[in-house]
Amino acid sequence: MEQKIKRIAVNTGGGDAPGLNAVIRAVVLCGLEKGWEVYGIIHGYQGLVDLDGLRRFTAADVEGITNLGGSILGAASKGNPFEYPSDTKNGCLKTKDISDKVVENFHKMKLDALVAIGGDGSLSIAQKFYEKGIPVVGVPKTIDNDLSETVITFGFDTAVSTATEAIEKLHSTAKAHDRVMVVELMGRYAGWIALNSGVAAAADVILIPEIPFDIKKVCDAIMTREAQGHQWSIVVVAEGARVVGGTIYTIGEREAGREVRLGGIGNAVAEVIAKCTGKETRTLVLGHLQRGGNPTTFDKLLALRFGAAAVRFLAEGKFGYMVALDPPTVKAVPIKAAISKLKTVPLDLDTVITARSLGICFGD
Ligand code: F6P
Repeated sequence: MEQKIKRIAVNTGGGDAPGLNAVIRAVVLCGLEKGWEVYGIIHGYQGLVDLDGLRRFTAADVEGITNLGGSILGAASKGNPFEYPSDTKNGCLKTKDISDKVVENFHKMKLDALVAIGGDGSLSIAQKFYEKGIPVVGVPKTIDNDLSETVITFGFDTAVSTATEAIEKLHSTAKAHDRVMVVELMGRYAGWIALNSGVAAAADVILIPEIPFDIKKVCDAIMTREAQGHQWSIVVVAEGARVVGGTIYTIGEREAGREVRLGGIGNAVAEVIAKCTGKETRTLVLGHLQRGGNPTTFDKLLALRFGAAAVRFLAEGKFGYMVALDPPTVKAVPIKAAISKLKTVPLDLDTVITARSLGICFGD
């Protein structure tokens, strides 16, 4: 049944991902086509906190942005309204729940529905606002590809392409110097980026969170290559990878209202490899390059399809649902199901089996 909607808003939470602008463009154009007013909320929910960050969009505002990286609405890794930074006591950041104020401002602005573009963190916030009465449709965004119920999230393909290109470039320098190159990739607690780019770019070792590794087996794989006449090796490490029985490497303490930062495993692995194999070893942390730049064609198209579907779902009153890719189509799945558990790499995935058949070592 078509819903009586007149005015919608769109926001994006968490880190940026290539394709965000394409989703925004599709939401704006498809919303305008329905005769609705479409507003963008700047920096997640921040624009609704003080009400100075709402931007009414015309078609001209979203012209020529499909191929642009970043986000015309900014991004928001902090400022969760349910854990909003209030003050600092004894060097410790305090938070308070200002979600009621956001709901109040949402109604004050006479908004009828919200398209929330986000990963697991931002969609968890969107789900809470849905439970507080805001009609929400979610769009799955993250380079990590770790959201359940959708085959893929937008941004992932671009991150994998960037990582693949970087690993391919490392081959020549590794070979020229007879070195081991360790490259640390993003992905949080899932190994999708490391697995896909590592296989595509012919890495010799891939370490992912789903397969805790034994560093001795990694060193053995490098020395076996050496014995076979290959004096160089490429080791791809997901930031969330860990040794058997070990813990994940993090950077600093978790700040209130935001996710803990992962990182450091690349250097740790490189240090042990150098010691055990005696080989010169260098590390590259690819970092935010994986989030930067323009989306691939796949991500542009996926993002446009997701944005258009979000507007269709709003019109059909499918609130509390997220757009999901279920090839060859897109479907609506409950946001609650999508955030209930992380989508990690299944150990029997054919990409894992392929990698093993190609002789790639997972350190297990
Ligand atoms: O979730 C996307 C992601 O890029 C992760 O892969 C990474 O761990 C994190 O965000 C980095 O976050 P920040 O931009 O806050 O450093």
